[in-house]
Amino acid sequence: IAMARQMASSAATLEELREQLAAFDGCNLKFTAKNLVFADGNPAAPIMFVGEAPGREEDLEGVPFIGRSGQLLDRMFAAIGLDRTSVYIANTIPWRPPGNRTPTPLETEICRPFFERQIELTNPRLLVALGGPAAKALTNATEGILRLRGNWKAHLTASGVQIPVMPTLHPAYLLRNPAQKRFAWRDFVSVKMRLRALTD
Ligand code: URA
Repeated sequence: IAMARQMASSAATLEELREQLAAFDGCNLKFTAKNLVFADGNPAAPIMFVGEAPGREEDLEGVPFIGRSGQLLDRMFAAIGLDRTSVYIANTIPWRPPGNRTPTPLETEICRPFFERQIELTNPRLLVALGGPAAKALTNATEGILRLRGNWKAHLTASGVQIPVMPTLHPAYLLRNPAQKRFAWRDFVSVKMRLRALTD
């Protein structure tokens, strides 16, 4: 973890951060993954969406949220006037866990300095946490996502900046529980309004 911290903080740009991650051997997930899944979208966007970890398609292509969840996420973006040119997308963990198992607490901690640095370097005005693990990573909240969702929280960056975070339901969860989409819709409307207030 000390090595992860040192490598992450030495990166002065996103490109350097990607190179540092590619050179980092301290997380075992790297050795079973096919590709590093760093980010997609526009690093200059005022809003960053955060997922948990790449799935199978993402691992094959090296791009976050391109499988079925990603296709739903793209439709959710479109519903509030966004697309991948106007958002930035990353995961708390940049390598696919074998068989899509949940990342262990150790894996999450080891990857955290890189994830935190990615937020610092893109400096988004708003964050959206997709699902419980992302919400937990961003806000340290201990409640489940069904309780957290819909209420703005804050993420405190290492440099002491507070960034508003909207925890919402993960698109993979919505695919399994389509009746819950109405809650995600409410959350996305709230995000749209806050984003509009920032950019108008
Ligand atoms: N689910 C995630 O949390 N992230 C991805 O990139 C794809 C699916």
